[in-house]
Amino acid sequence: MNIRSKPRDLALSRRAFVGTALAAGAAAGAAGLTLPSGVFARGDDTLRIGLIGCGGRGTGAALQALRADKGAVLVAVGDVFEDRVRSCLAGLSEELGDAAKDKLKVTPERTFVGLDAYRKVLDAGVDVVLLTTTPNFRPIHLEAAVQAGKHVFCEKPMAVDGPGVRKAMAAAKLAKEKNLALVSGFCWRYGNAERAAFERINAGAIGRIMAAHTTYHTGTLSPRPRKPEWSDFEFQMRNWWHFTWVSGDHIVEQAVHSIDRLSWAMGDENPVRCVSLGGRAARKGPESGHVFDHFAVVYEYGQGRRGFHTCRQIDGCPSDNTDYIFGTKGRAVINGWVPQHDLLDLDDKPVWKYDGPRRDMYQNEHDALFASIRNNSPINDGDWMLRSTLMAIMGRMAAYTGQTVTFEQALNSTEDLTPASYEGMIPVPPVAIPGQTKFA
Ligand SMILES: NC(=O)c1ccc[n+]([C@@H]2O[C@H](COP(=O)([O-])OP(=O)(O)OC[C@H]3O[C@@H](n4cnc5c(N)ncnc54)[C@H](O)[C@@H]3O)[C@@H](O)[C@H]2O)c1
Repeated sequence: MNIRSKPRDLALSRRAFVGTALAAGAAAGAAGLTLPSGVFARGDDTLRIGLIGCGGRGTGAALQALRADKGAVLVAVGDVFEDRVRSCLAGLSEELGDAAKDKLKVTPERTFVGLDAYRKVLDAGVDVVLLTTTPNFRPIHLEAAVQAGKHVFCEKPMAVDGPGVRKAMAAAKLAKEKNLALVSGFCWRYGNAERAAFERINAGAIGRIMAAHTTYHTGTLSPRPRKPEWSDFEFQMRNWWHFTWVSGDHIVEQAVHSIDRLSWAMGDENPVRCVSLGGRAARKGPESGHVFDHFAVVYEYGQGRRGFHTCRQIDGCPSDNTDYIFGTKGRAVINGWVPQHDLLDLDDKPVWKYDGPRRDMYQNEHDALFASIRNNSPINDGDWMLRSTLMAIMGRMAAYTGQTVTFEQALNSTEDLTPASYEGMIPVPPVAIPGQTKFA
């Protein structure tokens, strides 16, 4: 099966938000949300939303947020590039149609462009922020949002390096202390079928889970050729998937979804250590930066349990995005795209199969976020979303260096991938060479 040919492919969804948004709108209507009124602090029913990062996912998330709650209104937007703001607002207006007049309240004074746009959005009187920029800025934005007292929707991954994970962890803890919601963009955790299947797996339906293998085998993402007027910053940001300082590499940016489900299957325990193999076989040209195009990670857990993750972004190879989970009493095969959510016993007889509703998982995330704010029982996804993010980072670290990397080493790593300056030259590091690239 070629997952890139699927209409709801994650890789496609970042550019084809419209499809997701349409499905989401239908789902929200079907959900028939009833919300308690007059419960919000300002004394009216309005929840003012700020969007930080106006790309494909940000536009989709804004629509889902607006459709999740009758009182939700988009009031402020920010991006480093002006064209992204414009296309986002145009896309939202088109998608919302007649509802745009009530839902879109972004004025020119509350439209911000530049690296400081996030601060201005936070200062624009918003209640909820959607953090949907490239991953590298997430820890800074998350910290600032929580310090400013905002409820947060935060796309995955939450960081690209150890210092970023630690900053995000502190912010998640502070959110809990301040009674602020923090919902992650690990959308599969909000999928109806995945929730039902993993709840059963975690409850022992196929025995104790001894191993899991998750895959994210897909094709490449489109490169954007350099324009003469672009600085190094703009060139790398417009091709952000291919630069480790911005994306964390594809294992962290994209395959982290599957690593998150691996962690879910293993009961959200910290793995002790990992060994990882990877390299760059097929990427070419300056737009494809220096990231790898394949990884294979072995996570070691206590009692000899193991988690395996393989990911590949190479064209012309078969795709797969399946979770193969092995317990002492049976196994599970989970694939949200097919969809397949099967639990089998040791003789391969079906134990359980999902046959419930399949609402749009992206919409589910926002429905859950807004309901938790309204009910004053804010969700905090901090613990598991940061474990999964760190597991992906540690897989990259182990592959780049060729060394075994423990969970603690990854967490305490001092390697800060942020460039010295966003102005002038941003040197592209050489492609990592296992055995030579050093762990920091
Ligand atoms: N959950 C999912 O299924 C899913 C799907 C797609 C993308 N994502 C995640 O969403 C995030 C965004 O991905 P995308 O596909 O929308 O990328 P995108 O390039 O379309 O959008 C990112 C936007 O963020 C802006 N940006 C970057 N740094 C910024 C900053 N400091 N301040 C303000 N704006 C900034 C960029 O200019 C761009 O417009 C990524 O973390 C990605 O991994 C998640």
